[in-house]
Amino acid sequence: MKKILLATHNENKLREYQEILAPLGYEVYGDKDFGISYDPEENGTTYAENAYIKAKALRKLVNMPVIADDSGIEIKALGEHFPGIHTSRYASSISSDYRVVGQHIIDLLKDASDRSAEYHCCICLLEEEDATPLYFEGVCRGHILEKIGGYHGFGYDPIFHYDEGNLDFGDCSEEEKNAISHRSRALQKLLHYLALRQGQ
Ligand code: IMP
Repeated sequence: MKKILLATHNENKLREYQEILAPLGYEVYGDKDFGISYDPEENGTTYAENAYIKAKALRKLVNMPVIADDSGIEIKALGEHFPGIHTSRYASSISSDYRVVGQHIIDLLKDASDRSAEYHCCICLLEEEDATPLYFEGVCRGHILEKIGGYHGFGYDPIFHYDEGNLDFGDCSEEEKNAISHRSRALQKLLHYLALRQGQ
């Protein structure tokens, strides 16, 4: 069994990594599983910088390779790349209840002609504390629904529709989301890299 330590306090992210990686023989642990407490300031200007900040902070505390994920949603009608790297903070500024956040965004987009939105994910792999970090990115394109959807997924999922696969993230199964999400696309690239390296 291969072990991966994920730098996140977000239980939903951890669950998605576990769901995607368990069938491939990986065990994914969160920092809480190691009883580790740390809270680095995510003051980067890109997803990659923030992912590195989290990976680096955790890698200092453990003696094993770590990965970190920084992700967010970009909603065209709210601004270029917005809320983007501020996604989590933007939600908190509205409400701690993501259904309230979702409804707020739907209201803001009431007259918008362009409802397009993209989820972005950047994974940083940091094997040694002073190693060169490696980055793997995934994007999932869609649009913001006109009416809030179901309770599946987390965060902004109840208002997100994935265009190519015609899926509402708030209603589709975990398997459906995990097959095409920004996170799984980034993760596939990481796995591809690890497989290539193992074969060398
Ligand atoms: P961070 O990467 O922990 O800084 O926060 C990313 C934020 O983006 C999360 O708190 C969620 O609100 C949102 N987000 C990222 N990925 C997803 C997803 O797959 N579904 C719904 N919301 C997401």
